[in-house]
Amino acid sequence: MCLCWSWTGRPLNKFMARARTHNLDCYFWKWGFVVAISLGIIFFGIIVVLFFMSWVNLVINHEVTLREGSQTTEWWARPPVVPMIKVYIYNVTNADEFLNNGSKPIVDELGPYVYLEKWEKKNVTFNNNGTVTFHQEKIYQFDEALSSGSEDDVVVVPNIPMLSATSQSKHAARFLRLAMASIMDILKIKPFVEVSVGQLLWGYEDPLLKLAKDVVPKEQKLPYEEFGLMYNKNGTSKDIVTVYTGADDITNYGLIDKFNGMPKLPHYTEDRCNDIKASDGSIFPPHLTKNSTIHIFDKDLCRKLPLIFEKEVLGSNDVPAYRFTPPKNVFASAEENPDNMCFCPQGPPCAPSGFFNVSLCQYDSPVLLSFPHFYLANDSYRTAVEGISPPDEEKHKFFVDVQPQMGTAMRAKARVQINLAVSQVVDIKQVATFPDIIFPIMWFEEGLDSLPEEMTALMKLATAVAPIAHTALYATLFAVGVLLLIIAIWRLLRGANRLNSLQLAPGHVGTPAKGKDVPMSNVPKY
Ligand SMILES: *[C@@H]1O[C@H](CO)[C@@H](O)[C@H](O)[C@H]1NC(C)=O
Ligand SMILES: *[C@@H]1O[C@H](CO)[C@@H](O)[C@H](O)[C@H]1NC(C)=O
Ligand SMILES: *[C@@H]1O[C@H](CO)[C@@H](O)[C@H](O)[C@H]1NC(C)=O
Ligand SMILES: *[C@@H]1O[C@H](CO)[C@@H](O)[C@H](O)[C@H]1NC(C)=O
Ligand SMILES: *[C@@H]1O[C@H](CO)[C@@H](O)[C@H](O)[C@H]1NC(C)=O
Ligand SMILES: *[C@@H]1O[C@H](CO)[C@@H](O)[C@H](O)[C@H]1NC(C)=O
Ligand SMILES: *[C@@H]1O[C@H](CO)[C@@H](O)[C@H](O)[C@H]1NC(C)=O
Ligand SMILES: *[C@@H]1O[C@H](CO)[C@@H](O)[C@H](O)[C@H]1NC(C)=O
Repeated sequence: MCLCWSWTGRPLNKFMARARTHNLDCYFWKWGFVVAISLGIIFFGIIVVLFFMSWVNLVINHEVTLREGSQTTEWWARPPVVPMIKVYIYNVTNADEFLNNGSKPIVDELGPYVYLEKWEKKNVTFNNNGTVTFHQEKIYQFDEALSSGSEDDVVVVPNIPMLSATSQSKHAARFLRLAMASIMDILKIKPFVEVSVGQLLWGYEDPLLKLAKDVVPKEQKLPYEEFGLMYNKNGTSKDIVTVYTGADDITNYGLIDKFNGMPKLPHYTEDRCNDIKASDGSIFPPHLTKNSTIHIFDKDLCRKLPLIFEKEVLGSNDVPAYRFTPPKNVFASAEENPDNMCFCPQGPPCAPSGFFNVSLCQYDSPVLLSFPHFYLANDSYRTAVEGISPPDEEKHKFFVDVQPQMGTAMRAKARVQINLAVSQVVDIKQVATFPDIIFPIMWFEEGLDSLPEEMTALMKLATAVAPIAHTALYATLFAVGVLLLIIAIWRLLRGANRLNSLQLAPGHVGTPAKGKDVPMSNVPKY
């Protein structure tokens, strides 16, 4: 038994010092042990190389999962951010000439009209199957200082309820169209309305909707008698949303399970198009790669929008992020992008390239969405109207910057333009001179500029610190391990040399007393 472990190479026990052979024996034990330790350290380094990042990922998965009472859930339900929506309105400045002389419409882009938003998820209920159900609340406050213009600015825009009704009557019986014309005559409804910006966005009483509410059979009734582009959006939404918490399967994290109790949309011919298993835009499944396609669903978009990796950017507080943006052919016609075939259930004709027909989600109004300034659409649509500058990718593209490891949206600009596809209906005299045209109404940018420091701190930990810790840890382990190993082997070799010289000249060690000293054969083999 060797009882002489000591880093100094000196015996611990003075009785042990009696014989240098004994000492030498301890020496071999000791450095053999150091070899074992250093191999253990190197082995641990290999473990770190192989498993550290998976372990970090497990921690991230655990950290982001929505659980009752967790910090992540608190941030998800009441995000400590101030999103804002910037609205730009196309004011028609030559409505009379357009209708009477057949001139090109001239529009004047007004805005931005800026509203600061406050988001909160109400009635958050955790279900026992890895999902959570809630109502989204959004409160909008007009910000005079950031806006260029006031909510009271008067604008002239196409009369959307009227032009929707006339466009829809295109294939109806002629007498119905004539009846419609006389009703509009009596109610003094004109193809353009003059309203304030506030009214256009948040609602004004529309005589046609009011009439429809009284006349149309109950089942087909429009739910409102007011019209506004963002009517009823200020406050708690009636929509019940159920999303996956990530507790059961992290790859579903933040994706919609059901929207108003429905697992998919009812509008289209294929499940591919009806699918709504997508993010609401705030959180995405973690561990995104540059090959990942993420999806955003919004009720008013009437579909889930795919987004693909574009480039690496620096998000808020210098946390690196991936920029995701819709592929260029996202709204391409079915000929150019066959994936879009099922979004045109009643076609052809279908919406032209660069537009998305949301009429099925807008009470059959002929509303087409596009990107601002007709970005990604044929330029002929933009030049059909005077006063719209050519699209600029930087100003008009839709994008989201996502922190890839945690799947948190750090910066976003959801940019969408609302257009009305008007059909000429000659039997209705009020609109007889209104040609077939895709008329731009407004565009908006709903965005988030940055996250607060408290939210980015954890991301920094996951993105910057974890890889550094990883490298530092395995580098240190390897360095220490290899260094110890070299020292130990060197010592062992030196020991072996000395042993050789001992065996050659035993007198140097003094006379070994038989039976008392450990025999040479006890020296470990190496
Ligand atoms: C919008 O255009 C109309 C003319 O069609 C004009 O009277 C009005 O002042 C314009 N609104 C703004 C805010 O410029
Ligand atoms: C439109 O027509 C009216 C009458 O025909 C004419 O007085 C007016 O100058 C025309 N306006 C334009 C812009 O051509
Ligand atoms: C939210 O919960 C409260 C209290 O449980 C209830 O009174 C309210 O009706 C719920 N709101 C919605 C929109 O379900
Ligand atoms: C989980 O439970 C909720 C409430 O019972 C239900 O609405 C939802 O569809 C369920 N989701 C799944 C994936 O089973
Ligand atoms: C939205 O509602 C809040 C109160 O709930 C109100 O203070 C605010 O002015 C409203 N915003 C708009 C744009 O109407
Ligand atoms: C991304 O896809 C390409 C081609 O499909 C493949 O070569 C590459 O390995 C993928 N990268 C990752 C990170 O999955
Ligand atoms: C939009 O979709 C509706 C319903 O599918 C259809 O009736 C209408 O013709 C479409 N409009 C365009 C411009 O494609
Ligand atoms: C745009 O539309 C015009 C007329 O409809 C057509 O001649 C032209 O080829 C189209 N351009 C592109 C790039 O599709």
